[in-house]
Amino acid sequence: AQSLGALGLRHKLHVGTAVDMAALNDANDPEYRRLAASEFSSVTAENAMKWESLEPTRGTYDWAAADQLVEFAKRNRQSVRGHVLVWHNQLPAWLTAGVADGSISKQELRELLRRHITTVVNRYKGKIWQWDVVNEAVSDPWDTPSTLHYKGFWAQNLGPDYIADAFRWARAADPRALLFYNDYNIEAFGSGNPADDKSQFVHDMVKGLLAQGVPIDGIGSQGHLGTQYGNYDTLQVTAALKRFAALGVATAFTEVDVRSELTEPGDSAEINPRLQASAANFSVLMKACLAVRSCLSYTVWGFSDRHSWVPEWFDDPPQGMATIYDENYQPKRAYHELKSDLIFA
Ligand code: G3I
Repeated sequence: AQSLGALGLRHKLHVGTAVDMAALNDANDPEYRRLAASEFSSVTAENAMKWESLEPTRGTYDWAAADQLVEFAKRNRQSVRGHVLVWHNQLPAWLTAGVADGSISKQELRELLRRHITTVVNRYKGKIWQWDVVNEAVSDPWDTPSTLHYKGFWAQNLGPDYIADAFRWARAADPRALLFYNDYNIEAFGSGNPADDKSQFVHDMVKGLLAQGVPIDGIGSQGHLGTQYGNYDTLQVTAALKRFAALGVATAFTEVDVRSELTEPGDSAEINPRLQASAANFSVLMKACLAVRSCLSYTVWGFSDRHSWVPEWFDDPPQGMATIYDENYQPKRAYHELKSDLIFA
């Protein structure tokens, strides 16, 4: 049978996965490596390219894990989505501590960011297909204030201009990589609920940046969904992508998973309606991506429940079952659904 990756390429669509380097290197877990290599046409580092991973000690870059992933991709003829150059999470402790105690000034911080982007993009020049340049810069309706705004460490310390700067620095370092703005809760438009506002905000932000000549090539929609929120609507998800595409940029689903609450016994039974709801949501995003020409890739945020960020993060109530293979690497309904979407598109 053909892999998701191979089926995707029939439609010029890359189907990718985030890769957990510890799992990839676990000699007792060969199936992880086998599936990561064979089933996908694109890979993303789940953590290995984040600033805290790359420069744990000021001035000393540790490239081992990130290099390994880039090599792995090359060996398996996969494209690489670089993740992530500018984010407020997983920053090195020396950086956040230095800003907090005032030993790193605003001016120095901006220079550190410029150097970081330049160093990382330059190292992988020509080897990265898409870079997530700026990640999650926009607040959510449940934040304070509830009016959408630029949130987090970078906006607080440098002001929103860091976004334009980051794209310019990335472009200068590798003119051929596609530069993405990446965020969550922008997957659908037209529901009338507050998620529309964030999609609109990101749309307007990118429009404004493009008007200023900022080199931004794509908008990444993460796709962290949950069955407890009901099923996404194909028309609304397609609408969100089309509105982004109408700005003249590429689009992608960059971190798709669909979690469920694990409160009942028998959670892993095939008859579980959550498996069906999960499959339906995975499929809605895939159908939308297939329907919009600008949608270049569909990446799952981990492919097996054996290695997923979800159980670690959501424990009250516990959540899981968020990926397309179960803990024993058996493909779930979602996997088969994605395949049939790709076959019958
Ligand atoms: O580095 C330590 C390691 O030394 C230690 O052994 C281990 C034990 O728990 O923890 C390790 O750090 C963890 C790291 O993942 C690597 O496994 C962190 O505690 C944990 O917080 C971190 O979680 C990651 C999360 O981003 C943190 O922000 C998840 O794996 C990763 O899937 C998640 O990915 C993000 C995307 O980058 C952006 N969009 C949202 C998405 C989900 O949160």
